[in-house]
Amino acid sequence: MAGRADLWYQNAVIYAVDVDAFQDSDGDGVGDFQGLISRLDYLNHLGVDCLWLLPFYPSPNRDNGYDVMDYYGVDPRHGTLGDFVEFLRAADERGIRVLVDLVANHTSDQHPWFQRARVDPDSTYRDYYVWSTDPPQPDPGRGSVFPGEAGAGRVWTYDTEAGAYYYHRFYEFQPDLNLYNPAVREEIRKVVSFWLRLGVAGFRIDAATLMIEEKRPGNGQPEDPHELLRELRAHARRHGGDVVLLAEADDDPSRLGEYFAGGEFDRGDRSRPGGGVDLLLNFYLDAHLFLALATGRAGPVERALATLPPPPDGSGWANFLRNYDELNLGRLHRAEQEQVYERFAPDAHARIYGRGIRRRLAPILDGDRDRIELALSLLFSMPGTPLLFYGDEIGMGEDLSLPGRTAVRTPMQWSDAENAGFSTAPASRLVRPVVDEGPFSYERVNVADEWADPASLLNFVEHLVGTRHETPAIGRVDPEVVQTDAPSVFAHCYEGSAETVAMAHEFAGEPRTVTLDVGPKDASPMGLLGVGELRTVEVGVEVDLGPYGYRWLRVGDG
Ligand code: NOJ
Repeated sequence: MAGRADLWYQNAVIYAVDVDAFQDSDGDGVGDFQGLISRLDYLNHLGVDCLWLLPFYPSPNRDNGYDVMDYYGVDPRHGTLGDFVEFLRAADERGIRVLVDLVANHTSDQHPWFQRARVDPDSTYRDYYVWSTDPPQPDPGRGSVFPGEAGAGRVWTYDTEAGAYYYHRFYEFQPDLNLYNPAVREEIRKVVSFWLRLGVAGFRIDAATLMIEEKRPGNGQPEDPHELLRELRAHARRHGGDVVLLAEADDDPSRLGEYFAGGEFDRGDRSRPGGGVDLLLNFYLDAHLFLALATGRAGPVERALATLPPPPDGSGWANFLRNYDELNLGRLHRAEQEQVYERFAPDAHARIYGRGIRRRLAPILDGDRDRIELALSLLFSMPGTPLLFYGDEIGMGEDLSLPGRTAVRTPMQWSDAENAGFSTAPASRLVRPVVDEGPFSYERVNVADEWADPASLLNFVEHLVGTRHETPAIGRVDPEVVQTDAPSVFAHCYEGSAETVAMAHEFAGEPRTVTLDVGPKDASPMGLLGVGELRTVEVGVEVDLGPYGYRWLRVGDG
């Protein structure tokens, strides 16, 4: 029960926005910053405090913008740098902070650095990338990140102009930067300074695990792998003490603690300070939350929380259910993966890369409102900072006829007007088609209808966001699992000095009454979220849970 520092991101709700799919303001079919500005009041009403913007930089856009060709600009499809600054100011006026993606593991092959590197072996840019005339076989586990996709599959690609192979862990059009070249590190520091000076609150660090790997495969692990992100954080913090680095690191749980600022790298005979990460995207927990939902058992959540390292003071987890990539089950045992696939993606077409599911939250849970609320309540109750993926607050679905991960990246559904109110362009010109068929079509699932309906999912999520803000212990105190005699119920609590907050979630769809041994025994409990009677009994609080029920309660001075 460690008390933690009081930092803004520990009591924030983060919302992930893909600018190109959010709101188009000029009728060209692509979302833009003016469109996003016009929707800030919506986000403010919802109560989110922080937006994470997926890459919006100039890009050939062959990997949803994760192929950057200019780190200092805005892709003309989304507007201008001036529009971006106006957006930052408008967000700031509403108290909304902004994180931007830092894609520093690789560039686009169209980046001028790579173009110079290819044609001129003597150029300073040659050593910005990783070359070989005789590439080694990749080590096990270090093959392509996107097995089976065109443009991926291998990690070395021959460039006829350069007369050599270049290294890339993602697609062949995303050459890895040589992050062990001090000149490259200097470039990245400049990029970080640039966006911080404009006013962003921090960065979501793309592919952090790959960034800290040895970039000359075969040379073994670098002496001090976390130095890079540690230095980057120190640099970023010179611009402001509350700058946050949120990293994508889908690593083995035994290594995750290393990434945190204040963490420790301790392997074999080597011991070094840890990394520079304030918040770490919690992929491991995510897979286990879905395993619990699929099996109707609480055990997987308990196991995940017991396995994950406790973050050092000031650091924490960014928890999520779905994002714009696949739901990655790779860290579950094979038999467990099968259980999740069978329940949530019985159609092989909904699976991807042999490790994931390319569906959104609501359809995964059959659009079942009780289970969607259960999943969201569980997410918001997990230790750390909750992160919502745009559209999940209204229960949007996916379009499996779109290729690969694009299935979950369809435009935001604002209303039942043409193109879901996303754009006035002809449907054929939209960046991606809107979902216009079936139970998740924009005519049935949209913001306008849901705001008008007090019983809607959107109104529930707004309430959930508010409740999470009123429960800051979730981001600052280590949780304790509370034992119950029901294997389908996961219960946990956060014990603060004056009060205890406890939660219970039922996964099997069966009504249950559980007794939670929490809080001072003479205090009467106060319900915070969910329905059902609460009774003070000798050993604690008795809680009635309906099928897929959830309950948050406060015991103590609250
Ligand atoms: C991770 C991102 O989440 C994914 O969408 C992208 O394709 C890769 N990094 C490459 O940048």
